[in-house]
Amino acid sequence: MNDNLANRASAQGPGAAPAPSNLFYLTRLRRPLIDRAEGIYMYAQDGRRFIDGSSGAMVVNIGHGNRHVLEAMKQQMERATFAYRLHFENEPAEELARRLSEKMPQGLDRIFFVSGGSEAVESALKLARQWALVTGQGSRWKVISRFPSYHGGTMGSLGVTGDLALTETFAPQTQAMPKIPAPTAYRDRDNLSMEQRGIKYADMLEEKILAEGPESVLAFIMEPVGGAATSGLVAPDSYFPRIREICDRHGILLIHDEVMSGIGRTGRFLGGDHWNCRPDIIALSKGIGSGYAPLGAMAAHRRLVEPVLDSGGFQHGYTYAGNPLSCAAGLAVLDELERLGAVENAATVGDYLKSRLEGLAERYPFIAGVRGKGLLIGADLVSDRETFAPLPKVPNATARLLALAYERGLIIYGRRIRGDGLELDNFIVAPPLIITQDQVDELLAILDASLAALAAGLNLPVVG
Ligand SMILES: Cc1ncc(COP(=O)(O)O)c(C=O)c1O
Repeated sequence: MNDNLANRASAQGPGAAPAPSNLFYLTRLRRPLIDRAEGIYMYAQDGRRFIDGSSGAMVVNIGHGNRHVLEAMKQQMERATFAYRLHFENEPAEELARRLSEKMPQGLDRIFFVSGGSEAVESALKLARQWALVTGQGSRWKVISRFPSYHGGTMGSLGVTGDLALTETFAPQTQAMPKIPAPTAYRDRDNLSMEQRGIKYADMLEEKILAEGPESVLAFIMEPVGGAATSGLVAPDSYFPRIREICDRHGILLIHDEVMSGIGRTGRFLGGDHWNCRPDIIALSKGIGSGYAPLGAMAAHRRLVEPVLDSGGFQHGYTYAGNPLSCAAGLAVLDELERLGAVENAATVGDYLKSRLEGLAERYPFIAGVRGKGLLIGADLVSDRETFAPLPKVPNATARLLALAYERGLIIYGRRIRGDGLELDNFIVAPPLIITQDQVDELLAILDASLAALAAGLNLPVVG
């Protein structure tokens, strides 16, 4: 088993004894059966209660069991649950596209629905390529991305994913794309200001474009606020305009993967809204269906979509695209995000969570680099907070922390990333955007106890 699988497997903690089953996911370890879920809480059939401190996989932005969304879905179910898009259009898809386009940067008002994040990324890669072809730029096909990063589990999205533990096995079957370092400026120990570091990391894109040959480069894909691979990584402000400038200079499309950072997660509707970004294509999923239905979308600039449609059509699509039930759920989720003030709550309660985590880092010096925006907050686990030297490979501290929290009724997210000179043991706290400050305190009390247990078990330092 490779590192990452071992990491994710042991993160499952002391689960139930394996029962005979026809079902399989990652490993043989099994989890308790879910009974019900409400707000930020999830209840197992064995009576245990969990705080969902990671919104599943950063999905359930409006919280579990929202009655308004369930009601809207019921009403749609009574009418039609499926209408194939080449046979019928449906009102929820039409309306959701209109509502989403209003929230996108100017010009990104063409929406293409899919069922998940990997599909949204695939769609972006394919639209970009087809646009290049129909506009006489057939030499362009390379999509530069960052290391580390996560963009999905399908073959195309794996090609732009920067995580060797996930990509290596499938290398012969995938087209690995060029990578540049993710802007982990918070770890740098040089004499540069943060703004200078932002420029330094952005300029790595230009260097890569020149090395690859600008005429062969189609696009650059990045997460505006880092997710699973970098736990809330935020580049210095100077990074974003410089990236746009470089893409423009070389005629390269800028794709924002907002699958995790979008739909209010970072305290703005889009992660890129913190910097008024103007990407050409945006991939969305997770929070858009908030776990009520499989849903994702690609928002693309009309200047890309129109020539593709004029040339005969976009050569791409999925059976469940624009599914009326999923889109009805998505519409109700948007309504609820607004009614509950969830995006604004993510910003204010997120600031509180971040400052409290910084407080925990004072107590537990093996926590470093607390970062993130809104309710996408992460940190590294290290052996030296000044140098960011990693903890020993064995035992896997991230996996152990996740297991200790799970035992205590708290679900958080974490990964170990190693490769290309970077070692990151990191975890994310990302509860539903409706969480209250009191509930954050409840969550952090369990995290505190889990960190204390981790320190005791691994002989790590504790201050005071
Ligand atoms: C940034 C990003 N892109 C793409 C994906 C893939 O999404 P999915 O698992 O829905 O296919 C993920 C999933 O974690 C993600 O975080």
